[in-house]
Amino acid sequence: MTADTPSPKLVAPPRLIERGQRENAQTHRARVFWLTGPSGAGKSTLAHRVEQTLFTRGIRNVTVLDGDRIRGGLCSDLGFSAEARHENIRRVAHVARMFLEQGIICLCAFISPYADDRANAARIVGPDDFFEIYISCPQSVCEERDCKGFYRLAREGVIKNYTGVSAPYEEPVNPHLIIRTNGESVEGCAERLHGFIVNAVSL
Ligand code: ADX
Repeated sequence: MTADTPSPKLVAPPRLIERGQRENAQTHRARVFWLTGPSGAGKSTLAHRVEQTLFTRGIRNVTVLDGDRIRGGLCSDLGFSAEARHENIRRVAHVARMFLEQGIICLCAFISPYADDRANAARIVGPDDFFEIYISCPQSVCEERDCKGFYRLAREGVIKNYTGVSAPYEEPVNPHLIIRTNGESVEGCAERLHGFIVNAVSL
Protein backbone atom coordinates (compact mmCIF):
# COMPACT_ATOMS: atom_id res chain seq x y z
CA MET A 1 0.00 0.00 0.00
CA THR A 2 1.51 3.41 -0.95
CA ALA A 3 1.38 6.42 1.37
CA ASP A 4 -1.44 7.69 -0.82
CA THR A 5 -3.72 4.66 -0.69
CA PRO A 6 -6.41 5.28 1.93
CA SER A 7 -6.80 2.53 4.50
CA PRO A 8 -10.01 0.54 4.00
CA LYS A 9 -10.65 1.13 7.73
CA LEU A 10 -11.27 4.86 7.22
CA VAL A 11 -14.77 6.22 6.78
CA ALA A 12 -14.84 9.95 6.11
CA PRO A 13 -17.97 11.64 7.44
CA PRO A 14 -20.09 13.33 4.77
CA ARG A 15 -19.60 17.07 4.42
CA LEU A 16 -22.69 19.09 5.26
CA ILE A 17 -21.42 22.21 3.54
CA GLU A 18 -20.44 21.57 -0.09
CA ARG A 19 -17.71 23.50 -1.83
CA GLY A 20 -20.24 24.93 -4.31
CA GLN A 21 -22.18 26.48 -1.44
CA ARG A 22 -19.04 28.22 -0.26
CA GLU A 23 -18.23 29.42 -3.78
CA ASN A 24 -21.72 30.78 -4.32
CA ALA A 25 -21.51 32.65 -1.03
CA GLN A 26 -18.45 34.51 -2.26
CA THR A 27 -17.59 36.20 -5.55
CA HIS A 28 -15.48 33.47 -7.14
CA ARG A 29 -14.77 29.79 -7.53
CA ALA A 30 -11.82 28.01 -5.93
CA ARG A 31 -9.05 26.50 -8.06
CA VAL A 32 -5.45 25.37 -7.63
CA PHE A 33 -2.81 27.17 -9.70
CA TRP A 34 0.41 25.19 -9.65
CA LEU A 35 3.45 27.29 -10.50
CA THR A 36 6.41 25.16 -11.53
CA GLY A 37 9.86 26.27 -12.67
CA PRO A 38 13.49 26.35 -11.62
CA SER A 39 14.72 28.17 -8.53
CA GLY A 40 15.03 31.86 -9.34
CA ALA A 41 12.50 31.83 -12.18
CA GLY A 42 10.12 34.00 -10.13
CA LYS A 43 7.44 31.57 -8.90
CA SER A 44 7.16 32.91 -5.35
CA THR A 45 7.47 36.55 -6.38
CA LEU A 46 4.64 36.17 -8.89
CA ALA A 47 2.46 34.07 -6.59
CA HIS A 48 2.67 36.64 -3.77
CA ARG A 49 2.14 39.62 -6.07
CA VAL A 50 -0.88 38.04 -7.65
CA GLU A 51 -2.28 37.00 -4.29
CA GLN A 52 -2.06 40.68 -3.32
CA THR A 53 -3.66 42.03 -6.52
CA LEU A 54 -6.46 39.45 -6.36
CA PHE A 55 -7.12 40.36 -2.75
CA THR A 56 -7.08 44.12 -3.29
CA ARG A 57 -9.35 43.77 -6.32
CA GLY A 58 -11.98 41.83 -4.40
CA ILE A 59 -11.00 38.16 -4.77
CA ARG A 60 -10.30 37.64 -1.09
CA ASN A 61 -10.24 33.90 -0.51
CA VAL A 62 -6.77 33.26 -1.82
CA THR A 63 -3.57 31.90 -0.34
CA VAL A 64 -0.01 30.98 -1.34
CA LEU A 65 1.87 27.80 -0.52
CA ASP A 66 5.55 28.06 -1.36
CA GLY A 67 8.54 25.76 -1.13
CA ASP A 68 10.68 27.62 1.37
CA ARG A 69 7.79 28.20 3.78
CA ILE A 70 6.38 24.67 3.58
CA ARG A 71 9.82 23.18 3.95
CA GLY A 72 10.24 25.21 7.15
CA GLY A 73 7.31 23.36 8.75
CA LEU A 74 5.10 20.66 7.27
CA CYS A 75 7.95 19.25 5.17
CA SER A 76 10.93 20.10 7.38
CA ASP A 77 11.76 16.40 7.52
CA LEU A 78 12.33 16.22 3.76
CA GLY A 79 15.46 16.80 1.70
CA PHE A 80 15.93 17.09 -2.04
CA SER A 81 16.33 13.54 -3.33
CA ALA A 82 13.81 12.52 -6.00
CA GLU A 83 11.89 10.54 -3.33
CA ALA A 84 11.83 13.47 -0.91
CA ARG A 85 10.60 15.85 -3.59
CA HIS A 86 7.91 13.34 -4.53
CA GLU A 87 6.71 13.29 -0.91
CA ASN A 88 6.94 17.09 -0.65
CA ILE A 89 4.71 17.56 -3.69
CA ARG A 90 2.30 14.85 -2.58
CA ARG A 91 1.77 16.50 0.81
CA VAL A 92 1.40 19.95 -0.70
CA ALA A 93 -1.18 18.67 -3.20
CA HIS A 94 -3.26 17.31 -0.30
CA VAL A 95 -3.02 20.64 1.52
CA ALA A 96 -4.04 22.46 -1.67
CA ARG A 97 -7.03 20.17 -1.98
CA MET A 98 -8.09 21.02 1.56
CA PHE A 99 -7.99 24.72 0.70
CA LEU A 100 -9.93 24.02 -2.48
CA GLU A 101 -12.65 22.23 -0.52
CA GLN A 102 -12.95 25.32 1.68
CA GLY A 103 -13.53 27.51 -1.39
CA ILE A 104 -10.07 29.06 -1.26
CA ILE A 105 -7.92 29.74 -4.33
CA CYS A 106 -4.53 28.18 -3.78
CA LEU A 107 -1.39 29.39 -5.55
CA CYS A 108 1.31 26.75 -5.18
CA ALA A 109 4.88 27.79 -5.94
CA PHE A 110 7.16 24.75 -6.00
CA ILE A 111 10.00 23.79 -8.27
CA SER A 112 8.23 20.44 -8.65
CA PRO A 113 10.83 19.34 -11.18
CA TYR A 114 9.39 15.91 -12.01
CA ALA A 115 6.52 15.61 -14.49
CA ASP A 116 5.20 12.52 -12.69
CA ASP A 117 4.96 14.40 -9.39
CA ARG A 118 3.04 17.24 -11.04
CA ALA A 119 0.72 14.70 -12.65
CA ASN A 120 0.23 13.13 -9.22
CA ALA A 121 -0.58 16.55 -7.75
CA ALA A 122 -3.18 17.09 -10.50
CA ARG A 123 -4.69 13.70 -9.70
CA ILE A 124 -4.85 14.45 -5.95
CA VAL A 125 -6.40 17.89 -6.50
CA GLY A 126 -8.63 16.73 -9.37
CA PRO A 127 -7.66 17.56 -12.95
CA ASP A 128 -10.58 19.97 -13.55
CA ASP A 129 -9.51 22.13 -10.63
CA PHE A 130 -5.77 22.06 -11.33
CA PHE A 131 -3.92 24.48 -13.59
CA GLU A 132 -0.28 23.88 -14.37
CA ILE A 133 1.56 27.15 -14.91
CA TYR A 134 5.09 27.03 -16.18
CA ILE A 135 7.20 29.92 -14.90
CA SER A 136 9.90 29.69 -17.50
CA CYS A 137 13.31 31.30 -17.40
CA PRO A 138 16.60 30.15 -18.96
CA GLN A 139 18.83 28.35 -16.51
CA SER A 140 21.66 30.79 -17.16
CA VAL A 141 19.46 33.73 -16.18
CA CYS A 142 18.27 32.01 -12.98
CA GLU A 143 21.89 31.39 -12.09
CA GLU A 144 22.85 34.96 -12.86
CA ARG A 145 20.04 36.23 -10.63
CA ASP A 146 21.06 33.80 -7.85
CA CYS A 147 18.70 35.60 -5.46
CA LYS A 148 19.49 33.26 -2.56
CA GLY A 149 23.15 32.56 -3.37
CA PHE A 150 22.30 28.84 -3.64
CA TYR A 151 23.42 28.38 -7.26
CA ARG A 152 26.94 29.44 -6.33
CA LEU A 153 26.93 27.01 -3.40
CA ALA A 154 25.56 24.29 -5.68
CA ARG A 155 28.33 24.92 -8.24
CA GLU A 156 30.86 24.71 -5.41
CA GLY A 157 29.33 21.37 -4.40
CA VAL A 158 28.26 22.66 -0.98
CA ILE A 159 24.56 22.11 -1.81
CA LYS A 160 23.89 18.74 -3.41
CA ASN A 161 21.09 17.76 -5.82
CA TYR A 162 20.42 21.36 -6.78
CA THR A 163 17.85 21.69 -9.53
CA GLY A 164 19.45 22.85 -12.77
CA VAL A 165 22.97 22.16 -11.50
CA SER A 166 23.10 18.62 -10.14
CA ALA A 167 19.44 17.57 -10.35
CA PRO A 168 17.05 17.65 -13.32
CA TYR A 169 14.15 19.92 -14.16
CA GLU A 170 11.58 18.35 -16.49
CA GLU A 171 9.78 21.06 -18.46
CA PRO A 172 5.99 20.85 -18.61
CA VAL A 173 4.87 19.45 -21.96
CA ASN A 174 1.40 20.93 -22.12
CA PRO A 175 0.93 23.53 -19.37
CA HIS A 176 -2.21 25.64 -19.16
CA LEU A 177 -0.10 28.79 -19.22
CA ILE A 178 3.54 29.69 -19.77
CA ILE A 179 4.98 32.87 -18.29
CA ARG A 180 8.47 33.75 -19.47
CA THR A 181 9.99 35.93 -16.79
CA ASN A 182 13.10 36.73 -18.81
CA GLY A 183 12.40 39.78 -20.95
CA GLU A 184 9.04 40.74 -19.45
CA SER A 185 8.67 42.95 -16.36
CA VAL A 186 7.47 41.49 -13.06
CA GLU A 187 4.41 43.73 -13.34
CA GLY A 188 3.64 42.48 -16.87
CA CYS A 189 4.03 38.83 -15.85
CA ALA A 190 1.90 39.36 -12.73
CA GLU A 191 -0.83 41.09 -14.71
CA ARG A 192 -1.00 38.20 -17.18
CA LEU A 193 -1.18 35.62 -14.41
CA HIS A 194 -3.79 37.71 -12.62
CA GLY A 195 -5.94 37.83 -15.78
CA PHE A 196 -5.67 34.09 -16.30
CA ILE A 197 -6.72 33.37 -12.71
CA VAL A 198 -9.62 35.83 -12.73
CA ASN A 199 -10.93 34.13 -15.86
CA ALA A 200 -10.56 30.64 -14.36
CA VAL A 201 -12.33 31.49 -11.08
CA SER A 202 -15.19 33.60 -12.38
CA LEU A 203 -18.59 32.26 -11.35
S1 ADX B 1 10.77 20.82 -4.84
O1 ADX B 1 11.76 20.38 -5.82
O2 ADX B 1 10.52 19.81 -3.80
O3 ADX B 1 9.52 21.26 -5.48
P1 ADX B 1 10.66 23.23 -3.31
O4 ADX B 1 9.99 24.17 -4.25
O5 ADX B 1 9.83 22.63 -2.24
O6 ADX B 1 11.43 22.10 -4.15
O7 ADX B 1 11.85 23.98 -2.56
C1 ADX B 1 12.77 24.70 -3.32
C2 ADX B 1 13.55 25.68 -2.45
O8 ADX B 1 14.38 24.99 -1.55
C3 ADX B 1 14.46 26.53 -3.33
O9 ADX B 1 13.85 27.75 -3.64
C4 ADX B 1 15.69 26.73 -2.47
O10 ADX B 1 15.55 27.91 -1.71
C5 ADX B 1 15.68 25.57 -1.50
N1 ADX B 1 16.65 24.51 -1.79
C6 ADX B 1 17.57 24.04 -0.92
N2 ADX B 1 18.25 23.02 -1.44
C7 ADX B 1 17.77 22.82 -2.69
C8 ADX B 1 18.09 21.88 -3.73
N3 ADX B 1 19.02 20.95 -3.58
N4 ADX B 1 17.40 21.97 -4.92
C9 ADX B 1 16.44 22.90 -5.06
N5 ADX B 1 16.09 23.81 -4.11
C10 ADX B 1 16.75 23.77 -2.94
